[in-house]
Parts: sequence; C-alpha cells; structure tokens
Amino acid sequence: MEDEIPHYKIIFLGDQSVGKSSILNRFYQDKFEPDYQATIGLDFHSKNVEIQGTNIRLLLYDTAGQEKFKSLIPMYIRDANIILVVYDITIKDSFIHTDHWVNETKDLKRDDAIFVLIGNKIDLEDKRAVTVKEAENYANEKGFIFQEVSAKTGEGIEELFVNKIFSEMARKFKIGNEDGEENNEEGDNQPRMKLDEQQNQGQQKKKGGCCGGK
Ligand code: GTP
Ligand code: MG
Repeated sequence: MEDEIPHYKIIFLGDQSVGKSSILNRFYQDKFEPDYQATIGLDFHSKNVEIQGTNIRLLLYDTAGQEKFKSLIPMYIRDANIILVVYDITIKDSFIHTDHWVNETKDLKRDDAIFVLIGNKIDLEDKRAVTVKEAENYANEKGFIFQEVSAKTGEGIEELFVNKIFSEMARKFKIGNEDGEENNEEGDNQPRMKLDEQQNQGQQKKKGGCCGGK
C-alpha cells in the first residue's frame, strides 16, 4: 500500500537565484533549465527511493528566495526532516546569508533533523567568491553535511544525495536495518540505493535522474 511508505520531508532554503529549483530538478528528473524562472511561493514534488532495501518517499519542498515570500517559509520548515541550505559559490552574500536561513529553522520540531550546506554553480569556477575551505569550516562548526555541486553539469549531485544524504538518513532515521548502528553488511559504508520516480504537479514522467536508471 502506497500510504504505508514512510516519508521524509526535505526543504530547500537559500537566497534568490542560488539554484535551489535547479538542484531539485537535476535530482528529480536530471534536467537543467538555463532560463531563470523564480519560484513563486513554494513548489512541491515527491520522489520514491529505495534505501537499504526499504522504499521511502521524499517530499521535496522548494521555497522561493524572493523577499516577498519569506514569511511563508517558517511554517514549512517546522516538520522538515532534512534542511538543505543552498548558496551560490560566485556570490559571497549568498554564503553569508546562510546564517539567516539556518536561523529560520529555530522552530524546527525535530531534534534529529539533518542539515546540509550546498555550494552551487561550481561550473563557474572562474567567478568563485567563496572558498571550499571557508564553507567547509562553517559546515564543520555547525555539524552540517557539506557538498559543492553544479546543477548545470550535474557534478556532485549524486555524491550529495546518494552518498551523503541517503547514507545519513539510513544511519540517523534507522532506515533499512533493525538497530541502526551498522547500515551495511559488507561494512564498506556504502549504502545500496535505487531510485524510482514519483511525479507530481503535472510534471512529465522521465526516466533517468541523477541517481537512478543509469
Ligand atoms: P528562487 O526560486 O528565485 O529562489 O531561485 P532558485 O534558488 O530556485 O534559483 P534557480 O534554480 O531558479 O536558478 C537561478 C538561475 O541560476 C537560473 O538561471 C539557473 O539556470 C542558474 N543556475 C542554477 N544552477 C546553476 C549552476 O549550477 N550553474 C550555472 N552556471 N547556473 C545555474
Ligand atoms: Mg526556485
């Protein structure tokens, strides 16, 4: 029964135009749209994935970075399981503002939420304004997962979702094993995962995706 699939809510936060929707689209349907279409209010998608042999559903909440929509965001953050804070590696202010986005999560109801800092647009290396080191230091200090990606080329997306986020979900939320201590019988610390797509909001079904169907 579909309704019995455990679901986990992922929320994308970050300044306007840093690439939240683009990262989501790359992960969700392995697509990239070069023309900017600002998110209005909030977009929602869901995607079924398999972690350690267990089917789960990811509820993907894509927020709008534009100032006028900010007041809507806290109510969506409250029951999130995974918080993705995105900045643009070519815009220093977008990195500085990550603190603001992290502060917005102060009313989060879950103390086991997973936080992830994502530096996007690494295809624009010549315009880099935020070093890997400073972002890594910030993430370490806060206890966040950290990954740089390019939604445009897809670089780092699979590493981010499959190797880092799903691994941490398996460990923290005890997905796919009974005691939650050891996720992997072979002890190689690599989760076995398979993705399947669940479409929403009239999106066209498409095979592939960053992490499945390869
Ligand atoms: P809001 O919805 O307004 O908050 O913006 P957003 O954070 O969702 O940004 P969006 O994904 O719409 O991307 C903004 C612009 O950056 C678009 O023109 C994208 O094509 C572009 N963009 C996103 N990711 C990348 C990337 O990895 N590299 C490059 N070069 N451009 C990107
Ligand atoms: Mg958007």
